[in-house]
Amino acid sequence: MSVYDLVGPLLRCMDAETAHGLTIRALKWGIVPHQRVVRHPSLETTVFGRNFPNPVGLAAGFDKDAEVPDAMLAQGFGFVEAGSITPLAQPGNPTPRLFRLKSDEGVINRMGFNNKGAEAVARKLSMRHGRPGIVGINLGKNKDTTDAAEDYVKGVHLLAQYAAYVVVNVSSPNTPGLRALQGREPLERLLSRVHTALNEAVPSSPPPLLLKIAPDLTDDDKVDIAAVVKSTGVNGLIATNTTITRPDTLTSRGKNEVGGLSGKPLADLSTQVVGDMYQLLNGTVPIIGVGGIHDVDSAYAKIRAGASLIQLYSAMVYQGPALVTRILEGLIKRLQADGFDTVADAVGADR
Ligand SMILES: Cc1cc2nc3c(=O)[nH]c(=O)nc-3n(C[C@H](O)[C@H](O)[C@H](O)COP(=O)(O)O)c2cc1C
Repeated sequence: MSVYDLVGPLLRCMDAETAHGLTIRALKWGIVPHQRVVRHPSLETTVFGRNFPNPVGLAAGFDKDAEVPDAMLAQGFGFVEAGSITPLAQPGNPTPRLFRLKSDEGVINRMGFNNKGAEAVARKLSMRHGRPGIVGINLGKNKDTTDAAEDYVKGVHLLAQYAAYVVVNVSSPNTPGLRALQGREPLERLLSRVHTALNEAVPSSPPPLLLKIAPDLTDDDKVDIAAVVKSTGVNGLIATNTTITRPDTLTSRGKNEVGGLSGKPLADLSTQVVGDMYQLLNGTVPIIGVGGIHDVDSAYAKIRAGASLIQLYSAMVYQGPALVTRILEGLIKRLQADGFDTVADAVGADR
């Protein structure tokens, strides 16, 4: 029996945001037991020039202010993404804004980029600078900003020097107007400016630039995004953020809350987007697959659809951090059974 078998049910009795806050505090205090580290040559992978000990990462939104990246790496994740971070601190939307959809193993959130701001996060990250472990930085824009690109540029100037990779997040559903930045012209302009800023901020070795996209894109949107990714030299895609759709299969009481849906009910939709983008880009641009990963099958499906790396968040709410170990052990077996020497060999196998 793990500690989480005892603590998990207690946390799930609480309001979801209170439980999250307590979890972050426990991680900061160092009272969360580390998970057994799963290391295996087949799990090691090099993507956009970075060496990952395993392909399973912590998705953005769990550690918005980069308070516990090392504690989460100690939970077995191969990498951690902090954020989304906006230039100025902001409170986000009024509570309640985080809802468990228990019977669906889903989550709905309308947090609205609550975070302490880029300067505070830069101070935190400067303290861990030089430690091993891959920590990516996910950037957003402040709610009231009119020149969105300027916010991402500010984020780059303050944070890129600490980032193993930088994510431009234009896909959260809880900031008005944000997802419109996924359109062809605005996206091209935005990414060109961010690219320039990255080269100014870290001229010797600018970190890779990734774009995080929504699952609710039309086929035309996907074609446009693929074209922009190619023309602007983006190094990777993260697919996907939460969905504003509500599958008919949902049964939980909170299913009609406004916000983005994540967890199990998102799994197939986001795998479809991973596959579509992999095909549109002919496998030339690495994809981080995220959305509804809750066991080894859903993790492996993302990889076979075209994901070089994967991330998760919501399933941890239901299963605790031991899920990472279970997925890694399962992946080793799946790769072996299918005759793949490494995870990289399985990427896009279904396409
Ligand atoms: C409470 C919560 C907050 C989130 N905040 C962010 C965020 O700030 N930036 C971001 O890019 N994605 C955010 N996400 C989306 C996740 O990173 C991920 O893309 C999505 O939840 C799908 O993965 P999952 O089904 O494993 O949770 C958030 C998700 C949740 C549940």
